[in-house]
Amino acid sequence: MTVAPHTGQIVESGAPAAQAAARPFTWHGEDDTADFARRLAAQPQLANAFVTLHGDLGAGKTTLVRHLLRALGVQGRIKSPTYAVVEPHEAPGMAIWHFDFYRFDDPREWEDAGFRDIFANPGLKVAEWPEKAAALTPPADLAIHIEAIDDTERAVTVHAPTAHGLQLLQGL
Ligand SMILES: Nc1ncnc2c1ncn2[C@@H]1O[C@H](COP(=O)(O)OP(=O)(O)OP(=O)(O)O)[C@@H](O)[C@H]1O
Ligand SMILES: [Mg+2]
Repeated sequence: MTVAPHTGQIVESGAPAAQAAARPFTWHGEDDTADFARRLAAQPQLANAFVTLHGDLGAGKTTLVRHLLRALGVQGRIKSPTYAVVEPHEAPGMAIWHFDFYRFDDPREWEDAGFRDIFANPGLKVAEWPEKAAALTPPADLAIHIEAIDDTERAVTVHAPTAHGLQLLQGL
């Protein structure tokens, strides 16, 4: 994967098919995280995308997913994936799959639990700890890196390694 440097603005490089871009954001509190989720949710291209979430324990990956699910119209209690690795959700007009690969350590599960099929079909796939399944997943359209600065502030860099992701990034 080609990753553009952290420069403060969208950076593009290479031929159209191999575009790479990155853009920094600061979330001063969870309201900013929710705003970001709403802007992301407002983009139609999100209905078929793979978004990876990177960052330490407690960085705010699940929190972002919860705001995103709400912004997409998911109602009721939002369960997080735990031992099941993936939690499916339905929003108006789209299927959403929330993966947490933290405990994923058996590649056979990729086939057995139907993850290959999920990635072969349309829908939004969001993954925490994608590093643990990196050999199996397709390349991310958007890779969101979250770093906790203090209790409420988060330094965020959004990378868009695919042309599809670049469209999403430009809409944020
Ligand atoms: N700006 C912010 N954005 C996101 N979360 C924030 C923010 N400010 C504070 N928080 C808090 O930080 C915590 C983030 O926890 P969360 O479960 O989302 O982390 P995580 O990255 O999913 O961790 P894990 O790797 O354990 O799954 C929550 O308690 C949340 O309320
Ligand atoms: Mg989490």
